[in-house]
Amino acid sequence: MPRHLLTGGELDPAELAALLDRAVALKAAPLSCDVLTGRSVALVFERPSTRTRLSFEAGIAELGGHSIVLRAGELQVSRGESLGDTARVLSRHVAAIGMRTGADEDLRELARHATVPVVNMLTAGHHPCQALADLLTLREAFGTLEGLRLAYVGDGNNVARSLALLGAAAGVEVVVASPGGFELTDAPEATLVRDPGEAVRGAHAVYADVWVSMGDEATARERRRALAPYRLDDALLDAAVEGAIALHCLPAHPGEEITAEVLYGARQRIWDQAENRRHAQKALLELLVEEA
Ligand code: CP
Ligand code: NVA
Repeated sequence: MPRHLLTGGELDPAELAALLDRAVALKAAPLSCDVLTGRSVALVFERPSTRTRLSFEAGIAELGGHSIVLRAGELQVSRGESLGDTARVLSRHVAAIGMRTGADEDLRELARHATVPVVNMLTAGHHPCQALADLLTLREAFGTLEGLRLAYVGDGNNVARSLALLGAAAGVEVVVASPGGFELTDAPEATLVRDPGEAVRGAHAVYADVWVSMGDEATARERRRALAPYRLDDALLDAAVEGAIALHCLPAHPGEEITAEVLYGARQRIWDQAENRRHAQKALLELLVEEA
């Protein structure tokens, strides 16, 4: 059975710490690992992506490998071939499979039939690769993760859930502030509050994500109304600890969930987060492919 990364819960705290150490080393020496020489990685996208595709493709190239991007509409899945058969065939050609899709069950179905590692490149439930890059960014900003408090302000979505799960494994206290109806579910590791001001008190980082995630477009109007008091602006950041940083997984909607002042300001580490996707995912691929 290959090792997958479907939620991030597959990594114990020691493995997560070691993975982040490797990400730091690979960031310092990007061409120092050639674990994918002569091998390919399939990247299946059922939803759009800028950062995930870029960072996986560039990272795989730096590891000596070749990426094969497959969009859902181009696969025979679109004509009824099962995910199981797709996984069986992909596994005969590539060293690992990344998948971005809506239903977590579809990712699990692919993983059940794959004989190579499967990586979650975002589902409705989880975005573990994002959380790995976020932890790397926090570590760079503060030198350590143990004892940090991260406040996530907004929709209780995939990004919030992955931060809760992986943050806890890394020793980061994650507090999530959401309005009624949009609370984070299935994340016992996080402290859930209603008030953004309460969440950011004592926080070293304040995190925002979009109010309307992919697949949530039908409820866009209700979301924008309910989430309006949860905007990440300078005043909210001022209420966190001195030296607190602003984070956002991107894509951002300046003026909606985050102000342009924060997004492009001196206290953000948002563009570092986007870069750190590549370094963290290279460490992840190295771990999974070497074990397989
Ligand atoms: N943060 C992130 O996953 O961005 P993309 O949707 O552009 O891949
Ligand atoms: N929560 C967002 C993250 C995008 C990277 C979404 O799922 O659309």
